Amino acid sequence: MSTITLNLKKKLELIPESFTKDKQISINIWKISLDGIVDNKLIKHQISQYRNEFPASATSSVKSWHSSLILHHITDVFNPCIEVFERKVNELLSDKYYRYSVDNFWAAVYEKNSHTIRHNHAHFPYVFVYFVDADDNSSPLIIEDIEIKPKPSMMVIFSGAANHYVPKCDSDSSRIILAGNLLMVSKGFAKVEISKKEVYDLEKDYMLKNNKLS
Ligand SMILES: [Fe+2]
Repeated sequence: MSTITLNLKKKLELIPESFTKDKQISINIWKISLDGIVDNKLIKHQISQYRNEFPASATSSVKSWHSSLILHHITDVFNPCIEVFERKVNELLSDKYYRYSVDNFWAAVYEKNSHTIRHNHAHFPYVFVYFVDADDNSSPLIIEDIEIKPKPSMMVIFSGAANHYVPKCDSDSSRIILAGNLLMVSKGFAKVEISKKEVYDLEKDYMLKNNKLS
């Protein structure tokens, strides 16, 4: 695993100027290999099957065919690899109080001349990209001024505020990715599963103990 940390003093796109003006913003980037953990051949097949069913691309900053941004709500087939992604992210980033959960999730297939325009995911603390397939001529992922060379089985996790883009693809081979936004979830709230009846009983108990019931 390798880690890159950038400290930037600049206005970030999509964030109000008042928020970033003269503020130092930390941008973190991690690279993790999931070689031998995620079955890329199977994922390629699953993406291909999904694309056959939904050949029209979603529209976003990504100028290549890509799935809906809520792919995981449309099909369950990617759930095993989402579990791996969440486990790896939480090994890296979770703490006593918070864990990270995949929110938006999508697949993209970059063919010749595909690209992604510069953008960010500023409303999310972190985002990730997983490279299902790429070759030596595949376009890099550029995060701020850092060039990430795609490699199959590599997962890149980075700050949602970081501007990033993919230059126009020149390779004849497809550059295939899975990507998602990550939400912070309170471990405390996640563990509380309480019924309305239990809340009612607790409330009544409190009222009785504190002589608030007539
Ligand atoms: Fe993005």
